[in-house]
Amino acid sequence: MSEHFLVTGGSRLEGEVVVGGAKNSVLKLMAAALLAEGTTVVTNCPDILDVPLMAEVLRGLGCEVELEGSEVRITTPAEPKYHADFDAVKQFRASVCVLGPLVARCRRAVVALPGGDAIGSRPLDMHQSGLRLLGARSEIEHGCVVAEADDLHGANIRLVFPSVGATENILMAAVLARGETVIDNAAREPEIVDLCNMLNQMGAKVSGGGSTTLTIQGVRKLEPTTHRVIGDRIVAATWGVAASMTRGDVRVRGVNHKHLGLVLDKLRLAGAEVTPEVDGFRVIQRERPKAINFATLPYPGFPTDLQPMAIGLAAVADGTSMITENVFESRFRFVEEMIRLGADARTDGHHAVIRGVPVLSSAPVWSSDIRAGAGLVLAGLVADGVTEVHDIFHIDRGYPRFVENLRGLGGVIERVSTE
Ligand code: UD1
Repeated sequence: MSEHFLVTGGSRLEGEVVVGGAKNSVLKLMAAALLAEGTTVVTNCPDILDVPLMAEVLRGLGCEVELEGSEVRITTPAEPKYHADFDAVKQFRASVCVLGPLVARCRRAVVALPGGDAIGSRPLDMHQSGLRLLGARSEIEHGCVVAEADDLHGANIRLVFPSVGATENILMAAVLARGETVIDNAAREPEIVDLCNMLNQMGAKVSGGGSTTLTIQGVRKLEPTTHRVIGDRIVAATWGVAASMTRGDVRVRGVNHKHLGLVLDKLRLAGAEVTPEVDGFRVIQRERPKAINFATLPYPGFPTDLQPMAIGLAAVADGTSMITENVFESRFRFVEEMIRLGADARTDGHHAVIRGVPVLSSAPVWSSDIRAGAGLVLAGLVADGVTEVHDIFHIDRGYPRFVENLRGLGGVIERVSTE
């Protein structure tokens, strides 16, 4: 059975939407539970498929995992297994975040490599070289990344690029290493700060979270904790961009607006009135949006995960937008689908030029990843007629209650199943 969305364009989004916990945080926090024997509780978990998939990975490693509503309870044994096999990890890439915790706890990890990704190649060289500096041997063997260490010790590690995943894996290995580790050019994403906070609650000694330098004093043992996941800034911003594209008025709650500084500034440049609020923000767009220019960069730069939605905005904006993708090489593949919807767009390498048109033209389109899928639905909202968005399992991986939330704002969308 496959499912697709039918999105009818022309409605103005209005109302309030509450976002859940961040997908890009919850999976790492669940992996961090491997670092301490006993029961760790993670709250404010989003209702997305990746959470039960991660639960399966952890069960395969010997943990007991209970999911109830937005809470997940993970009971880690004294000696977790160290082998995450292909069946467990094949469905999603983020499972590679068990690598660091397993090396730290078991001194050995074998994690099957997930398959390719539509947004570009995603090597693990930085994860591996960081672990090697901590004293581990690491190779790719028979489709798995293998890491082993007799003794894990502190080290000075300078990342060649502030990779989110590499920062997290090295950090989670270093918290139980002997001595001091310094990670320079570390990723600064709010999800990294969330992980640092949880690790410190568990008894780790991590400082510098949110800056380019993380300093970790290794400790012998961590204790389980209870931790609330931060709100999903990417989902929140998706609704903000949708409000601007449909000339709507949307209040987004459940997120720290400070995690979206640059994005909200870009919406202001597009002509929106953006008001920060205590637990979110409000976007009101009265006129046709104006063109925006941006380049994706690691945080606090413009998030690559929002590039497809922002291209949707540029496609109907007044004027020409210039967009540069600096993080994932193949992310512009999605522009082909936008062209099918009548966008006047050209790409050249990692640059795109988009001349806004007043309205897009509905068509069948295919999602290639979570964010591309969301971008296509947003485009469908400003197309004439009914847009069919296929391969929506991608969207379900990142957006809890997507249809319900969009309908709650007045969007016209239907989920259709076909045999
Ligand atoms: C995370 C997010 C993803 C987001 C991305 C960038 C999760 C589950 N996913 O992915 O949604 O788009 O951050 O904000 O949190 N790279 C290497 N070698 C490495 C590691 C990375 O070359 O060892 C490259 C990648 O190919 C990519 C760039 O570095 O071009 C950024 O990747 P990274 O920050 O690691 O992204 P992820 O952690 O995979």
